[in-house]
Amino acid sequence: MHFKAQTVKLAQVISDCLVVGVYESAKLTDSAQTLDDQSGKQLSTIIKQGDITGKIGQTLLIHQLPGNQAKRVLLVGCGKKPELGERQYREILGHAAKALLGTGARTAVNCLMELPIKGQDPHWKARQVVEISHASRYRFEQLKSQKTNDESPLEEITLPVQGRREATMVERAIQEATAIAAAVTLAKNLGNLPGNICTPTYLAKQARELQKKPRIKVEVLEEAQMKQLGMGSLLSVSRGSRQPPKLIVVKYSGAAAKTRPVVLVGKGLTFDAGGISLKPSANMDEMKYDMSGAASVLGAISAAADLKLPINIVGIIPSSENLPDGNANKPGDIVTSLSGQTIEILNTDAEGRLILCDALTYAARFTPAVVIDVATLTGACVIALGGHASGLLSNHSPLARDLLRAGEETGDRAWELPLWEEYQEQLKSPFADMANVGGREAGTITGACFLARYTKDYHWAHLDIAGTAWKSGAQKGSTGRPVPLLTQYLLNYSKKAKA
Ligand code: BES
Ligand code: MN
Ligand code: ZN
Repeated sequence: MHFKAQTVKLAQVISDCLVVGVYESAKLTDSAQTLDDQSGKQLSTIIKQGDITGKIGQTLLIHQLPGNQAKRVLLVGCGKKPELGERQYREILGHAAKALLGTGARTAVNCLMELPIKGQDPHWKARQVVEISHASRYRFEQLKSQKTNDESPLEEITLPVQGRREATMVERAIQEATAIAAAVTLAKNLGNLPGNICTPTYLAKQARELQKKPRIKVEVLEEAQMKQLGMGSLLSVSRGSRQPPKLIVVKYSGAAAKTRPVVLVGKGLTFDAGGISLKPSANMDEMKYDMSGAASVLGAISAAADLKLPINIVGIIPSSENLPDGNANKPGDIVTSLSGQTIEILNTDAEGRLILCDALTYAARFTPAVVIDVATLTGACVIALGGHASGLLSNHSPLARDLLRAGEETGDRAWELPLWEEYQEQLKSPFADMANVGGREAGTITGACFLARYTKDYHWAHLDIAGTAWKSGAQKGSTGRPVPLLTQYLLNYSKKAKA
């Protein structure tokens, strides 16, 4: 699917489908009004007949409307005009995209770019149109022997613009959104793959695939190298698994070698059964998504490479399974991390922090400008924020602020929780430097407190994506989050770096 910015004359444009809006109370958007006038008020007549009232979620396909050259007009409900905001806009675009895919159109002009959204410019709107169009087309059918047989012929969507300046702005938005959409798809595919296919070895192989893009180099540390380095915490988790662990290092070099990189660390737990502290079996299949942090890091770096961002990025992915086994960690075991700090493992299901802490210590060798880790770390985060926001905890408030802003800009939001010293008390152990769990209270915060003990030497933020990385129930599937947030952060960071 390909997008282009173009000035459009509605009466003359040749297209398989014009997509225009109608508000509740039968008020037409500008383009719909033009089409109505050119057709001798036929749109008004159709609306008066009651086939569409303008509620969000409604669409109506009209063939051969007189007065224009398009084969079809897709009328899209836009709700109440005064209530039209960012959220409503995304919803409207989602319904429009779905309806458009259901038609036989190969080309379309999306006139919903003209809807007035407070505080948002054509750049933002174009980003939404492109990202949502791609998302609504996403399906995960790699593993079905019979693919759904209704692939739409849609190939080209025109975004109408007024003048050269706006065209440049929208073209840039199309580039960004195309890169983000591809990265979201990459992350979704990795997330949706089951644990028997998406193993640490598979993740490493997929990371290596990224080397096909310019300026990306991938290195994978094997178990022996990790042992030599002293990653006792990470290796303790993989001991209970038949699959060898991997530490995947992805480097994107868009700037001079001496420029400090942004380091992204992603939890790559390809299946989390809990280990000896075994999880209950209901919905345990969803623990195949426990590598979503890793997938989002690979996605964000892939988008950065597509956009040729003038920065350096290092992605570090500790990858393992967490399974019960005769060799697995046992409650009470004490391990020594790469940092030298010792950890009493009171719950083997708090394994994410055990693999992340060694990766975070390893991150320091890249003299990072900032380090951001992304992890499906705690069920408590799902309880606190649900599926709407990722949890954010940081030791550096400017970094936290930049991440929150990137989340707002993309609708892939995060919400900050405190990382106060007081919470560190909960991690005390009588036998080791710390315990790996801090009790039931404030589980997301104590998880981050544990990581904070390994990130003292640099600016660091932690994104807990346990609630946002995938959906359960009827819509079960990976969301690709927080790829949009991370990519937007990198885009903004590039602009700052250049300035
Ligand atoms: N991967 C899980 C976190 C998780 C659970 C994400 C449910 C999404 C849904 C993580 O490894 C884990 O098991 N965390 C424990 C930590 C606890 C033992 C301190 C949890 O949240 O129960
Ligand atoms: Mn776990
Ligand atoms: Zn886990």
